[in-house]
Amino acid sequence: MQIKFLGHAAFALEHDGKTVLIDPFLTGNPKAAVGADEVEADAILLTHGHGDHIGDTVAIAKRTGATVVAIVELAGELKEAGVEKLIDPNIGGTADLGFVTARLTPAWHTSTTPGGTVNTPAGFVIEMGGKRIYNVGDTGLFSDLALPAKRGHIDLAIVPIGGHYTMDRFDAVAAAELIKADQIIPSHYGTFPPIETDAQAFKSDVQNAGYAEVVVLEPGESHTLR
Ligand code: NI
Ligand code: MN
Repeated sequence: MQIKFLGHAAFALEHDGKTVLIDPFLTGNPKAAVGADEVEADAILLTHGHGDHIGDTVAIAKRTGATVVAIVELAGELKEAGVEKLIDPNIGGTADLGFVTARLTPAWHTSTTPGGTVNTPAGFVIEMGGKRIYNVGDTGLFSDLALPAKRGHIDLAIVPIGGHYTMDRFDAVAAAELIKADQIIPSHYGTFPPIETDAQAFKSDVQNAGYAEVVVLEPGESHTLR
């Protein structure tokens, strides 16, 4: 199981010849590690419909035939936009694509798409290649971040640290204590001036507290889960 950081909140999970994209905002993303016209995808998971998450989803899905997993109102807009393969769970529901499963979890945020569709933001508990990954999505700190670990061990969490639109790196340390993952990859920082932060300081704070190992990835870098 490999996870590649594509910049901002975009990731590619790769295992056994399958690629799962998360929040593929590439066009217009100053930190994008890959172009929307060259990225591979068998599935696309969307946490919510803000422009910095829905991004190039429609174009990538049309080109690759990838199945898109998005909360029901967001999936409805994507269907109207011509995406053919959609799974539309709500919070608590699981999409099972065989090579990956993704369960929607609550996230404290807002969301309206660039097209005007109001939708509820979510996180994802993803199982792929024998690993369980909790992408908390765009959210502030809240105590229910502890709940997914009650159902099963979290190998890796993806946590926003940029502040302003999400929790900042200090609240993210408290989140790390709640989430109880072996490893954490920080996301949603450094893309634009309001979300500049010090990822290495976050790493030190989390690791000194003993909450998790933090893996800071530059856009384009990959990390292997063993
Ligand atoms: Ni957002
Ligand atoms: Mn965002």
